[in-house]
Amino acid sequence: MCGVFGYVTDHDEALGPILVDAARRLTYRGYDSVGAATFRDGSIDLRKDEGKVEVVAERQNLAEMRGSRGIAQLRWATFGAPSQVNAQPHLDSDGRMAGAHNGNVVNNAELRAEFAAEGMTVRSENDGESCVHAVERYLRRGEPPLDAIRHAYGDLEGDYSFVIGLADDERLFAFKKGSGMVVGIGDGFTCVSSDLPSILPLTRRVVRPRDGEIVTLWADRVEVRSVETGEPVDRPAELVTESMDVAQKGGFAHFMAKEIHEQPQVARELLHLLDASEDVDPIVERLRDARNVYLVGCGTSYHAALLGSVYFAQLAGRVAVPVLAPQFIAQYAPAVGPDDVGVFVSQSGETKDVLNALGAAQGRGMTCFGLANVVGSALTRDTAACLPLGCGFEISVPATKTFTNEAVAFLYLAYRLAGLDTARLAGVPDLMETTIAAVDEPVRALASELRDRDDLYCLGYGATYPIALEGALKLKEVTYAHCEGMLSTEFKHGPLSAVTPGFPIIFVAGPTDTGLIVSGLNEVRVRGARTITIAPDDARLRANGDVLVPIPASDPQVSALLAVIPLQLLAYHTGVLRGFDPDFPRNLSKTLTVD
Ligand code: G6P
Repeated sequence: MCGVFGYVTDHDEALGPILVDAARRLTYRGYDSVGAATFRDGSIDLRKDEGKVEVVAERQNLAEMRGSRGIAQLRWATFGAPSQVNAQPHLDSDGRMAGAHNGNVVNNAELRAEFAAEGMTVRSENDGESCVHAVERYLRRGEPPLDAIRHAYGDLEGDYSFVIGLADDERLFAFKKGSGMVVGIGDGFTCVSSDLPSILPLTRRVVRPRDGEIVTLWADRVEVRSVETGEPVDRPAELVTESMDVAQKGGFAHFMAKEIHEQPQVARELLHLLDASEDVDPIVERLRDARNVYLVGCGTSYHAALLGSVYFAQLAGRVAVPVLAPQFIAQYAPAVGPDDVGVFVSQSGETKDVLNALGAAQGRGMTCFGLANVVGSALTRDTAACLPLGCGFEISVPATKTFTNEAVAFLYLAYRLAGLDTARLAGVPDLMETTIAAVDEPVRALASELRDRDDLYCLGYGATYPIALEGALKLKEVTYAHCEGMLSTEFKHGPLSAVTPGFPIIFVAGPTDTGLIVSGLNEVRVRGARTITIAPDDARLRANGDVLVPIPASDPQVSALLAVIPLQLLAYHTGVLRGFDPDFPRNLSKTLTVD
C-alpha cells in the first residue's frame, strides 16, 4: 500500500518536522521503511532507511532537514525487500530529481531492464524508482517536465500515486492511477498525500484528483491537467469536515469495516500484480509436476488454503492437501520428499506454526513456495518463491482483505494450472463491489436479530465449506459468541441435537448446491431452527428457508469468494452492536510468533 506525501512552499523552511509528522500519520498504510527528500537552493537532501518512522527519523536526523519543497514516503514492501536502497524516495541517474510513490508498478522488472539499457543508473529493485526513471527517460529526450511526466504515466502499468520534483524548479508534480491521492491547499503552501490524515493537520481545503490526472503544485496554487490531453481540468477545492480519527479509517468507524470495503480494490491490484509476476510460471510448473501438493497455513490463512485446494481440484484436477501447519509436521512431514511441493500461506509471513512447518518440509527437501502479505517477512525470505498478496497494511486483527487476496491468488493459480484464461477473473472485483452494496442492508438487519445469540452454526459445502469455517471464525473473533463452522452434510451426524426453537443456523450455498442445501434447511427447520442462507438468489432457497441474503450470480468458485463478504460484515456489525471493538478483540493477536 505505502504512503507518500509532498509539500511545497516558496521559502526555505524547517521541513523535517512536517515530513516526519506526515509520515507518522500515514503509518497505518505501512511501516517497513521511511524516507524523505528536501529540495533546497538547487540541491536535494535525501535520507532514508529501513525501519519504523520514529526509528528512521532519529537515525537519519530527519528533523534537521530544510528546504522549500519536500517529499516523504512510508513503505510497505512489494517490489524489493525492505532495505535502505529500496526505501523511497529515489533519485534519477544524476541526482537532480527525486520522487516516491505508493501502490504497485507491475511492469517494474521490464522497465528496470529498459532503463539500464538506456544508460540510466538503476540503484534498487523498487518500483518507485521506475517511476523516477520513466520521467527521466522523457526529460533526456528534451521534453519539459509536464510532458515528460505525462509520457511516463503511459509507461507505468499498475495502480499507484506518484510525487516527483526537480532540483532546479519550484514545483512538485503528482499523478495517480487506481490509487488514492488528495491535494491540500494551505496558507502559503500546498501539499499532496496518499490520504487525508497527513493533510488535515495542515489544511482542510482539498482537491481530489481522479485517475489519469496530473497535479502541479506551486506554493500558492495547484493545477490539475488530464494526462491524455495535457489540457487543464476544473477540480474545485472542497472543505473537509471529517475528524482525524474518521479520516484515518477512510470514513469508517473501524479499520475492519474499512478493510472489508477495500477488498475489491486490493483484489484488482493483486490480479495486476500476478499478471506481471515472474514467479507465477515456475510455481505453476512445479505444482503441475509435483508428486503431492500441500497447502499449509493457520487460522484464516488455513481457510484460504482449504478453499485453494477446492479450486485446484475443481478447476485443474490437481489434488492438493490443505493442512493446518502444526498438523503438517506431525502427519505429512515424515512422508514428504523432493518431489513434493508446498505452498505456505500467511498474512504476516511470521506465524511460528507456519515457519516450523516450513522448516520441517525443507528439512525433507520439499520445494516450498509462499503466499504472504508482508514482503520481507521470514516466509518471503525463506521460500523458493513467494507471491505477494498486495493488500497493504491490515490493521484489524480479524483478517478480511488478506483472506480474500489469499483466495484470489489460489484461484489465479488454479486457472493457470487448468490452462484457463485469467483475464476472465478481471470482473471479480466488480462483483465484490456489487456484493458489498447488495448485502449491506440485510446484514445490518441480521446483526440486530443475532446480537444476543451466544451460539450459532455456519454450514457450507464444497467451495463454501471453507467460507463457512471462515465466517464462523470471524463471528467468534469479533462477537465472542460461540459459532461453529461445519460441512453442511455433517450437521445431521451429531450437532443436530443442539437445535432448539429459534436456534440460528447460517447456510452458505454455491450455485450448484441448491438441492443439498434445501434438504439441510428442512432438516433443521422442522426441528425449530431459524435459518439464514447466503447464496445467489434462488426461488427454492427463499421458499425453504427463513432469511435469504442474496449475492450476485457467478460460478461456484467466485460465488464462494463473494459469500465471505456478508459473513465478514455480519461479524463486524454484530460485534459492534454487542459493544466490542472489532479491530482489537480480547485475547487475540495479529501475528503469533510463539508455539
Ligand atoms: C493469528 C491471527 C489470525 C490469523 C492467524 C494466522 O491467530 O489472530 O487472524 O489468521 O494468526 O496468521 P497469518 O499471519 O499466518 O496469516
